Amino acid sequence: MQTKQELENWYEQEDPWDYTITEDDIYRKHFYLTVLEDLDGTYERALDIGAGEGFITKDLPAKEIHAIELSDTAAKRLPENVKRVSTPIGKYDLVLVTGLLYSQYDHRAIAKMATDAASKHVCIGGIVDWLRPYVFGELIRSFEFPYREYLSAFKVYETRP
Ligand SMILES: C[S@@+](CC[C@H](N)C(=O)[O-])C[C@H]1O[C@@H](n2cnc3c(N)ncnc32)[C@H](O)[C@@H]1O
Repeated sequence: MQTKQELENWYEQEDPWDYTITEDDIYRKHFYLTVLEDLDGTYERALDIGAGEGFITKDLPAKEIHAIELSDTAAKRLPENVKRVSTPIGKYDLVLVTGLLYSQYDHRAIAKMATDAASKHVCIGGIVDWLRPYVFGELIRSFEFPYREYLSAFKVYETRP
């Protein structure tokens, strides 16, 4: 598993994955946001787990936005409208987990955190071949699209009451 220190080193450079300047990432972000817009419009509370520097987080359609991020270096760059939390605070009607349910990360703990924190929708995104198979309730939207040299998925689950 990738250590916190490895992630801190990786984030010495700003935007280390070039999300903000890569067309496929700009497309991915707009894809996610369009799906969310079609589903609900606005959420009360959103939680982004593994938010990085907030590239997607900052534009989530929610009145209150929380982020969980392991790297302190990345979290220092989170925009002002995003509050960093170390653990979920209460329940969230939107939980986003993108680029994180991979074997190099602590995917079991992350999936459990998402399950426990969600009251309505859990959104999972990532590279199809790398995503670990978790289910968060009823699958209500599922998409696949090309991303860099990979195939990427975006899925929305409605949590079971
Ligand atoms: C590949 S990036 C994805 C960033 C963002 N979610 C996106 O889709 O653009 C994965 C992020 O998750 C963070 N991360 C890794 N393990 C984590 C954990 N256990 N808890 C919180 N964040 C974690 C990394 O530091 C990194 O910022």
